[in-house]
Amino acid sequence: MSKPTFYITTPIYYPSGTWHLGTCYTTVICDAIARFKRKMGYDVFYLTGTDEHGLKIEQKAKEAGVTPKEYVDKKVADLQSLWARLKISYDRFIRTTDPYHEAAVQKIFDKLYAQGDIYKGEYEGYYCVPCETYWTKTQLVNGKCPDCGRDVSIAKESCYFFRLSKYQDRLINLLEENDEFLLPKPRRREMINNFLKPGLSDLAVTRSSFTWGVPVSFDPKHVVYVWIDALVNYITALGYGSDDDSLFKKFWPADIHMMGKEIVRFHSIIWPALLMALDLPLPKKVYGHGWLLMGADKISKSKGNIVDPVELSDRYSVDAVRYFLLREIPFGSDGAYTTRAFLSRINADLANDLGNLVKRTVAMVNKYEGGKVPTWSGKLQNTDEEIISLFKQTLPAVQKNMDELFVPEALEAIFTLIRRANKYIDENAPWILAKSEDTKERLSDVLYVLLEVIRASGVLIEPFLPDTSEKILSSFEGLSEEEKSFESLFEFGGLKAKKVIERDALFMRVDVEKEIAEMEQKIEENKKQEAEAPETETKPEITIDDFAKVELRVGKVLQAEKMPKTEKLLVMQVEIGKETRQIVSGIAKYYSPEEMVGKQVVVVYNLAPHSFRGVESQGMLLCADDGKGGVVLVSPEKIVDSGSEVR
Ligand code: ME8
Ligand code: MG
Repeated sequence: MSKPTFYITTPIYYPSGTWHLGTCYTTVICDAIARFKRKMGYDVFYLTGTDEHGLKIEQKAKEAGVTPKEYVDKKVADLQSLWARLKISYDRFIRTTDPYHEAAVQKIFDKLYAQGDIYKGEYEGYYCVPCETYWTKTQLVNGKCPDCGRDVSIAKESCYFFRLSKYQDRLINLLEENDEFLLPKPRRREMINNFLKPGLSDLAVTRSSFTWGVPVSFDPKHVVYVWIDALVNYITALGYGSDDDSLFKKFWPADIHMMGKEIVRFHSIIWPALLMALDLPLPKKVYGHGWLLMGADKISKSKGNIVDPVELSDRYSVDAVRYFLLREIPFGSDGAYTTRAFLSRINADLANDLGNLVKRTVAMVNKYEGGKVPTWSGKLQNTDEEIISLFKQTLPAVQKNMDELFVPEALEAIFTLIRRANKYIDENAPWILAKSEDTKERLSDVLYVLLEVIRASGVLIEPFLPDTSEKILSSFEGLSEEEKSFESLFEFGGLKAKKVIERDALFMRVDVEKEIAEMEQKIEENKKQEAEAPETETKPEITIDDFAKVELRVGKVLQAEKMPKTEKLLVMQVEIGKETRQIVSGIAKYYSPEEMVGKQVVVVYNLAPHSFRGVESQGMLLCADDGKGGVVLVSPEKIVDSGSEVR
């Protein structure tokens, strides 16, 4: 029998800013769900990717002085390495610049045009010429452009429209009658009352004021509106509109489209309408999660208020980051990141509850059983029944919560079992049982119960914390696939492995106050550096004759040493043609004396000698600011004779 399928998607990300902790939220949640479903025996397709077209990207690329494609390539590479770092197990990464996607977008557009769902019309709006942007009346600020504050004029341009209004009644029915389609529930009312009931207008689905997009095949002055281009990724990624649509046949309709609440409108109104027009089945569920906030602000790419997930995972482990995102934020609501909350979670749940259970148990098995997994007599005493019944309830509880997308609650169910096992250690005090031969069998039973709970925890935690799962399960020698499966968790006693192996602690306890103090200090230092960095202001214009007064020559560093009692200064002997000069330069923080020897540099040759702390400098070296408060040396692009003039 073939496995049931499960198709889950994240939105495709705009590669236009810095990747921050909030960016990771949707992707980590979907990863946990995808991994969970795989372990449940589903054939899973997990899709993510990037949304690379549009005016915003075109402008950013221009600012950076590169082509839009060069611009997005770099950002996408960074994003993919972030996902690899966080162990995101996607099955496909779609880029809207992929040729197969662009071709399918054109086909979809052609089809909708041919059947009359897209028509040519005129777009009328308030146009700001310098900004090349249309605004609606309500967007204007005091009747002026909200971006630049200048006058706007009423302008018209030809443009294609999608007949969104035609689908209004079907959309209202969809949302009113299917209470599983859009979750959490309050988002449904919001969509019906704020957008659908007031009435839908047709949607402008092309732009002609810029070119970075998919051109309309039959009218290439127009590019397809970025949201249309983006939404259809969910089907083009499966091969819809291509020669091979076998994945589409297998996985569509999607089981879950997951996203932040700010884009629910596009997914619960425009996307179903497009699918209705294409005569395709609708996704089963659209889920709008809340935001990860920083203090009172959304950690948004645009606000420069960023927590770096790579830095956090380097310092505290990938699973600490995953755990925080999955556990701390009530699903569907907003949640706050604070360093204190993050570190406290690591200490309380990961280091104390989980880490200690494994460490204490393995140590006792080594001490009392010589590292062998004891056999279980099956005789029940004290609280055995309680912990065994909790054991059997845990997977069903996790499953129920995951089905309802209560991810923190699913984790909580696992940690309830873990905490119960810690209490079980204290209740049964194996160290006392070890004192007498009479309680030897009981000791073995207690240790077996604990090892069995540890095995279950290792198996259950895999979708959430894959590295930790691997580490926990590696505490058992030769664990079979059966023992690593969910199926083995419905009954107690599936542990068959014969030996345990002591491993490094799963998580280190951190000193919260010390860590916070260090981070705050770092932020202060960065601020200070920024404040000290000289403003780059332009100097008054000079004539060519003025410039000709400056003599620049290439020199070669023969010797270099740090000036005693300073941090910044290097004293160098520099060969310039036949002459050797002593030059002092403030580069010691960025270049070691060893690195400098042999380097070719550019020297201001006719600068009047001056002295640093009593040491004479006969000229100076040219350096460029590196934008981070440091400097890099300017040197000729190829080796030239020392003494050569620089013009
Ligand atoms: O909207 N907290 O892309 P995007 C939680 N390209 N989630 C956050 C977040 C935060 N602080 N910041 C971002 C787009 N996200 C479109 C989608 S789909 C056809 C096109 C989430 O890069 C955000 O909510 O702005 C969304 O789910 C995802 O990151 C990508 O957002
Ligand atoms: Mg966004």
